[in-house]
Amino acid sequence: MKIVVCENYEEMSKAGAEIIADLLKEKPKCVLGLATGSTPVGMYRELAKKNAAGEITFKDVTSFNLDEYYPLAPTHDQSYRYFMNVNLFDHIDIDKERTHVPDGLAKDPAKMGEAYDAAIEAAGGIDLQVLGLGPNGHIAFNEPEEELYAGTHLTGLTESTIKANSRFFASIDDVPTQAVTMGIGSIMKARKIIVLASGKGKHAVVAKMLSGRITTMCSGTLLLAHADVTLIVDKEAFEG
Ligand code: GLP
Repeated sequence: MKIVVCENYEEMSKAGAEIIADLLKEKPKCVLGLATGSTPVGMYRELAKKNAAGEITFKDVTSFNLDEYYPLAPTHDQSYRYFMNVNLFDHIDIDKERTHVPDGLAKDPAKMGEAYDAAIEAAGGIDLQVLGLGPNGHIAFNEPEEELYAGTHLTGLTESTIKANSRFFASIDDVPTQAVTMGIGSIMKARKIIVLASGKGKHAVVAKMLSGRITTMCSGTLLLAHADVTLIVDKEAFEG
């Protein structure tokens, strides 16, 4: 795992955007795996700036997001589809028809998950996957469990995740208790992965990821088994 330690959040955001910009220049028709959460917001802002300046274009890019609350409509202002529109897609020249987020209203989530993974494969696989880390070390919504799913699936959310994510909702009772999420296999098939982490609150998880040991109880550590992962952290996340 390659580690890039940045001075602060802004530098981390720029470093992440730079890696994506390089890929877009090299492979304009690439497939991006995208993440939500507050961590990548600054990087998305940087990408929108580069797009507006004509440095990069997303017009031939296909994207697949990691996860979505369940059940939640894509029009809900806390849905991850809404988040992606507001924080990135509305500000870049991407064709929204080619942006994908797991369906938070799927009647048959298992079937939807299979179709989602098949669509990723049909698009040629993910060239670059962006990840954040949950406070408990989860990637996407692969919560601490003895067994994890390989493919996109419906999952329950732990109390700590519901609590952490309640800051975006009017009350904790409004936070969905389930989500549809890419599984570990869907994520590990990406050719390249960048993981962003910022702030003291992520230090324990970053330290665990750097411990050299792998556990399904902290799905971020599974990335230690991937050949091309860059962990981009700010000083606070790195040093605690
Ligand atoms: C959610 C998402 C994760 C994300 C995590 C961290 O749980 N499912 O993909 O990495 O939040 O969020 P934040 O970046 O706000 O700390």
